Amino acid sequence: MDHGSLLVLTLGLAAFPPPIFASMVVPEAFKKHEVVPDVIPAAPSAQVKVIFEGGVEAKLGNELTPTQVQNPPKVSWDTEPDTLYTLVKTDPDAPSRADPKFREWHHWLIVNIPGTDISKGDVLSEYVGSGPPKGTGLHRYVYLVYKQAGKITDAEHGHLTNRSGDNRGGWKIAKFADKHKLGTPIAGNLFQAQWDDYVPKLYKQLGA
Ligand SMILES: *[C@@H]1O[C@H](CO)[C@@H](O)[C@H](O)[C@H]1NC(C)=O
Repeated sequence: MDHGSLLVLTLGLAAFPPPIFASMVVPEAFKKHEVVPDVIPAAPSAQVKVIFEGGVEAKLGNELTPTQVQNPPKVSWDTEPDTLYTLVKTDPDAPSRADPKFREWHHWLIVNIPGTDISKGDVLSEYVGSGPPKGTGLHRYVYLVYKQAGKITDAEHGHLTNRSGDNRGGWKIAKFADKHKLGTPIAGNLFQAQWDDYVPKLYKQLGA
């Protein structure tokens, strides 16, 4: 190859990075952090944006504190017109990653979200911050978005408030996705967190 064509190739790559690079980011992070296979069998290709108060963001496995994530974040993802979505936040590491006997403890579940307007969705499980027990190390908090084929109802699940921890543990998003034929999630993200002194306040909120 002469210098001229090498230059064209280099400039071409810089101007048009192959899209495969961008679309591998989430699958690689989900593999590295073992979200695949601990939570779901196949990773989404896109990222869901999860932004907490003060602009703190989930970044595919970074560490945040329970204090930082105590209130519901702003969440967004790429949408198609006239489409409903399901959003979940789930912790596969309950009570610890080493001994996850209550896998998963789910923190948030909203269905029938038109686009990304979560205020118009049906809340099945209200938002609960992150409350990893003291001494249990880092927990993974996984966000997933599924595209729905139609409207979902789930009387069996009912409505879980964030004033109680009942029926949150021993739950599986993959089972819920199967039950409602949601397929593979279209977007995902995760952060990790370990105990800090906000956790006792969260337990009080849950009546524990
Ligand atoms: C509890 O859930 C309600 C209703 O979904 C929500 O508005 C509120 O922000 C949640 N509170 C906390 C502390 O997560």
